[in-house]
Amino acid sequence: MTTTATPAARQVAPAEHAHATELAFLAAYDDGPRPPGWRLTPRAVVTFIVGSAGTALDLPRQARRDDLPRTLAVAAKFVGERALVERCVVTLAGERGLLLVGEPGTAKSMLSELLAAAICGSSELVVQGTAGTTEDQLRYGWNYALLLAHGPSAAALVPSPILSAMRTGAVARVEEITRCLPEVQDALVSILSDRRIAVPELSGTAEATVPAAPGFTLIATANLRDRGVSEMSAALKRRFNFETVGPIGDLAQEIALVQRQARATLERVHAPFAVDEAVLEALVTAFRDLRAGRSVEGWEVERPSTVMSTAEAVAVASSLALAAAYFPGDRDVLSLLPGHLLGVVRKDDPADGAKLLGYWDGAVRRRAEDGARLWRQLWELRDVLAD
Ligand SMILES: Nc1ncnc2c1ncn2[C@@H]1O[C@H](COP(=O)(O)OP(=O)(O)OP(=O)(O)O)[C@@H](O)[C@H]1O
Ligand SMILES: [Mg+2]
Repeated sequence: MTTTATPAARQVAPAEHAHATELAFLAAYDDGPRPPGWRLTPRAVVTFIVGSAGTALDLPRQARRDDLPRTLAVAAKFVGERALVERCVVTLAGERGLLLVGEPGTAKSMLSELLAAAICGSSELVVQGTAGTTEDQLRYGWNYALLLAHGPSAAALVPSPILSAMRTGAVARVEEITRCLPEVQDALVSILSDRRIAVPELSGTAEATVPAAPGFTLIATANLRDRGVSEMSAALKRRFNFETVGPIGDLAQEIALVQRQARATLERVHAPFAVDEAVLEALVTAFRDLRAGRSVEGWEVERPSTVMSTAEAVAVASSLALAAAYFPGDRDVLSLLPGHLLGVVRKDDPADGAKLLGYWDGAVRRRAEDGARLWRQLWELRDVLAD
């Protein structure tokens, strides 16, 4: 049977593939000293993540190669404080664990993926924490067919992503660490302090302990809306440096990010992007007002209990753009905005729909009365929310 899909096609490429040229360029561009096992200098890692601020970097003459561009402006990927990214990089350079905490959708996972890709060239050594995560998934398991046939041996051992990272001196990632049961989390305590994993089943052989190669570290993420970080054991907390990732502070930066990402979504499906910047501005403004409990003008806004994350703003913007691309001329994309906002606002508590209506009767009405055309159109769509 033949299939039409190309085997190489992927919905989402890991960061090290998606940004391979930038990573190779930065490795050649900055040949300064690197921590053991690192592919880039700490400064180049930061540049990779926050971008080169529109400046095209010039590859020094002696570093030029045929497979690299001569100059390259590095795109910003994570929007946020440079100092936060620098602290993360310093933590990892010191081979300490890094724990990124924050509200949902603040790009914690994205930041951890970018850090891992830049530092060791792979962001795929990852364990997804869930209530069902077992110690085996953090340490090692067995290929039971081999185990039964030949007894315990190095060949029968199935390494966890963490064990693989220890062997090669790479960065391992644990997503949503606080969703794992505390006793499972605690398997990490000995990994982070002893820097080795003991395999008692192989005692007497060379593989009885797997020591961590230089460069091995761990990045974990935790969502503040899940079971709290406070429930992590003190012993484990002490082995991580904590960094809190907050929502994007600046309106213009958030609009630009939402536009960039929604555009990228449309490019992936080869559809044209046709959403006005004014519509995106209204969308992001509404998200920020509801997130903050205060409008840009300083008016009080009743906050829904759910998080209004940038990630969801990106999702709504992408939906609007897809609607515009696939149903062109059917209706104005702006008319779809209230319905999408309602979906986001009500996802934790259906009664929160009333708070969105309150936002319409307050901030949206006042902006409409002040004569802003787009907000007047939105005000006229109030019925969508009132049903
Ligand atoms: N500061 C930011 N910089 C860049 N992208 C951001 C930022 N904040 C949010 N995003 C967007 O949010 C998307 C999702 O982020 P990600 O999944 O990494 O969030 P998260 O914090 O891990 O969320 P969760 O807690 O739900 O796992 C990113 O792909 C990006 O589109
Ligand atoms: Mg995440």
